[in-house]
Amino acid sequence: MQKHWKTRLIHSDARIPEGFRSLNVPVYRASTTLFPDASAVTDQWDVYEVGYTYGLYGTPTVQELAARICELESGYRTLITPGGQCAISLIDLAFLKSGDHVLIPESVYGPNRSFANRVLRKFGVEVTYYQPLIGRDIESLMRPNSKLVWCESPGSITMEVQDVPAIAAAAHAHGALVVLDNTWSAGVLFDAFAHGVDISMQALTKYVGGHSDLLLGSITVKDPELHKQLGATHQVVGIAASPDDCSLALRGLKTMAVRLEAIEDSANKIALWLMERPEIELVLHPALASCPGHEFWERDFEGSSGVFSVVFRSEFSKAQVHAFVNALELFKIGYSWGGVTSLAVAYDFGQWASRPAYGHRIVRLNIGLEETGNLITDLQNALAKAAQSDFPN
Ligand SMILES: Cc1ncc(COP(=O)(O)O)c(C=O)c1O
Repeated sequence: MQKHWKTRLIHSDARIPEGFRSLNVPVYRASTTLFPDASAVTDQWDVYEVGYTYGLYGTPTVQELAARICELESGYRTLITPGGQCAISLIDLAFLKSGDHVLIPESVYGPNRSFANRVLRKFGVEVTYYQPLIGRDIESLMRPNSKLVWCESPGSITMEVQDVPAIAAAAHAHGALVVLDNTWSAGVLFDAFAHGVDISMQALTKYVGGHSDLLLGSITVKDPELHKQLGATHQVVGIAASPDDCSLALRGLKTMAVRLEAIEDSANKIALWLMERPEIELVLHPALASCPGHEFWERDFEGSSGVFSVVFRSEFSKAQVHAFVNALELFKIGYSWGGVTSLAVAYDFGQWASRPAYGHRIVRLNIGLEETGNLITDLQNALAKAAQSDFPN
């Protein structure tokens, strides 16, 4: 056929040399993937079983990231989602149905709780929140219809480290699955599957991405049965991660070890410095004895990352705590964490009876890669300003 130029725009005969060998995984963007003949056309999600049938189930870039995360977490298979919260909701959708019961720690990431309250309850799932340090006593909350037990260790903001093996043993004795939000450990500082977890999820947005410029999540499962259940739900929910974001995450993985090491070292020094400050009542850093569940961190973790919280002494008003955060120059104010920029966010637990009585006095810090001494000076200056400020409560 003589091709018109308009056809050539789509079906080109131009050829370039083959054999380019980059150190990096190419970015494969695609919705359509081609079949060799009419009889081969099929819409199936498991690329390991049937090959690639549609971009929704992951192009090779997405699959490469999934395989790398799976390898790091020693799981059976990993599925990549467009964000961490998306991984959370997909797990709930895949493993819960009307009439089931789910247990969630009080210290869980806020939107995980919101999904349970606003969506799971709407679809007839019973939701119970439990104290994160409950350990094996979770047994007393198990019901015949308990199907899923969430763990998040350490918990969001209040940082309680959980006795995951004890919770897992009790859950398994009742036939429930255990799912862990393993984001804080970056999937490498806590071996989820060795501690009894069945499903480990991460917000890759944090340490894997590492530069605050992408949103991604991962779900890693320990066996083929869980993979089947998850994949089948993922297929029909229709959430596909961007190959461009996955490419950035693959790049992030290459430097994650040195970033984590530097961040851990800096965070430890800053946490110890904060412990000595008269303005601070409590430093909630898992590596310090002052953090609830510290003994489980010591027993189960291989290190710590760079997110922790401080609680101001009781005489500090909300306005003073805000004055502290506002006075910081290097620490910026913003959600998310795990990037190279230090961040600070003040929270207010008010009179929430089931949470620790920190009220408005808690501030979460994300330690980035700035020089540690500069960060300490920034904190020192801001603490001085907070103590001097005298706003009405
Ligand atoms: C512990 C934890 N899990 C999950 C998420 C959700 O991740 P994403 O922001 O990618 O939706 C976050 C985000 O802050 C988080 O802190």
